[in-house]
Amino acid sequence: MEETKNYTIITGSSKGIGKNLAIEFAKNGHNLILVARGSEILSDLKKQLESLYNVSIEVFPCDLNDLQQVEKVFNQINNYNINCLINNAGIGIFTKVEEIDNKELLMQMNVNVLAPIMITKMLLPNLSKNKGSVINICSVLSYMPNTKSSVYTAGKSALYAFSNTLRLEYPHLHVLTVHPITVETTFFTDPNYLNNIKTKLKPELVAKKVFRAYKKKKRRLNIPKLIFWLNLFYQICPKFIDKLNRKYFSHK
Ligand SMILES: NC(=O)c1ccc[n+]([C@@H]2O[C@H](COP(=O)([O-])OP(=O)(O)OC[C@H]3O[C@@H](n4cnc5c(N)ncnc54)[C@H](OP(=O)(O)O)[C@@H]3O)[C@@H](O)[C@H]2O)c1
Repeated sequence: MEETKNYTIITGSSKGIGKNLAIEFAKNGHNLILVARGSEILSDLKKQLESLYNVSIEVFPCDLNDLQQVEKVFNQINNYNINCLINNAGIGIFTKVEEIDNKELLMQMNVNVLAPIMITKMLLPNLSKNKGSVINICSVLSYMPNTKSSVYTAGKSALYAFSNTLRLEYPHLHVLTVHPITVETTFFTDPNYLNNIKTKLKPELVAKKVFRAYKKKKRRLNIPKLIFWLNLFYQICPKFIDKLNRKYFSHK
């Protein structure tokens, strides 16, 4: 081990939810390993957080769409003592399935599903030794379909299913899945999309709720809580929920 300190890894920490998670965890005394492609943004964030919160921050630029690069970078990261892994990085390309470019299809699956699974697998001995936590940022779409989202939904459902099985296989690990509705970040490339959505979350709020759920060792965090009931109704009366879904929740 290069370091005896414990570290929390946050993928996709250059902006949006991930950046706010970095701020929240650093504020609460966590040393961090920041991962994203934007190395300059990560270096600035490192400087800012180290001076504000007296924590140790390491930066590892990595493109999670390149699984060979993921293997190389996380082999290096494995030299640190890891007690929390947050698989947050994600992308969404929202078109009907017949319109999606194959390259973009693979990219979504690599970044949203295969990289998080690979990273978790590589770090398991490290996390197990520290009885650590794995936090997977899923979505309300892990439970429920939405138009123009088939590949994204498939990925988020897969990440949710992976997390639930991981918890069964490694009971000494804490596994938390997070399922927010729309969050105001740069995630949506269409600038009009966010304007049309009435109920949306601030990334700062999501980060605070994730930290609280992490401390309480919760297994699932729906933001807002109402999502639990929506999911239940979807299981009981999917036809009715499909109708509502088409009418009210399909603005992409
Ligand atoms: N926004 C929402 O409405 C919403 C709702 C539910 C769930 N989520 C989930 O929340 C997570 C964070 O989303 P966000 O809203 O914060 O999005 P965001 O503002 O677009 O941030 C995405 C983060 O992922 C990183 N990333 C993207 N592609 C990457 C790649 N190929 N390699 C490495 N890092 C990559 C980005 O960093 P670089 O560009 O620097 O690489 C960035 O830090 C995602 O998993 C998303 O699916 C979002």
